[in-house]
Amino acid sequence: MIYTLRRELDHALLEEFFYLAVYCPPGNPPYPRSIVELPELLKYHKDFGRPGDLAVTAEDTVTTGIAWLRLFPENDPGYGFVAGDIPELGVSVLPARRGEGIGGELVRLLEQAAFADGVRAISLSVNTDNPAMRLYARIGYEVVRVDGDSSVMVKRLK
Ligand SMILES: CC(C)(COP(=O)(O)OP(=O)(O)OC[C@H]1O[C@@H](n2cnc3c(N)ncnc32)[C@H](O)[C@@H]1OP(=O)(O)O)[C@@H](O)C(=O)NCCC(=O)NCCS
Repeated sequence: MIYTLRRELDHALLEEFFYLAVYCPPGNPPYPRSIVELPELLKYHKDFGRPGDLAVTAEDTVTTGIAWLRLFPENDPGYGFVAGDIPELGVSVLPARRGEGIGGELVRLLEQAAFADGVRAISLSVNTDNPAMRLYARIGYEVVRVDGDSSVMVKRLK
């Protein structure tokens, strides 16, 4: 697997992995792909390459996973907003490649690069039923807020 730090991403590629990161409860029909165009979701993946945007991709013959960070301002917060200088994490791995350690490694490398850029904490929003929450807890993210069926988690970087 080749892991690469990126400050820009092809929009179609990020949109694809963002769609994979939108939690759909088991048993529910998959969301239409157009869901990623909703304004509250579009802002997570549009024009990736702004100041503060940072990503790591995992590739072998194809891109198998992406972890990315984006800052949101206080007047246009994301679901996991904590502060204007704390970026929000997104991560997804192709369904057939989950559970191999790729997601954990993507986040580890992204945290390392973000720390080198001066980032001191990362936040995220995760559906409380999403098994990803176990991964986040295992690697040091702590719940700071519960909003309905989602939890906001934060990790201080060292
Ligand atoms: C969450 C995700 C990025 C983890 O990547 P991964 O490569 O599977 O992760 P790793 O192999 O490094 O770690 C395994 C952990 O991921 C989680 N995981 C494993 N398989 C999973 C699956 N099919 N779906 C969701 N999470 C899974 C589990 O928490 C597991 O932890 P555990 O071993 O303590 O049970 C990946 O499973 C995924 O893309 N899920 C769907 C998108 C998503 O939910 N993203 C987060 C939105 S907040």
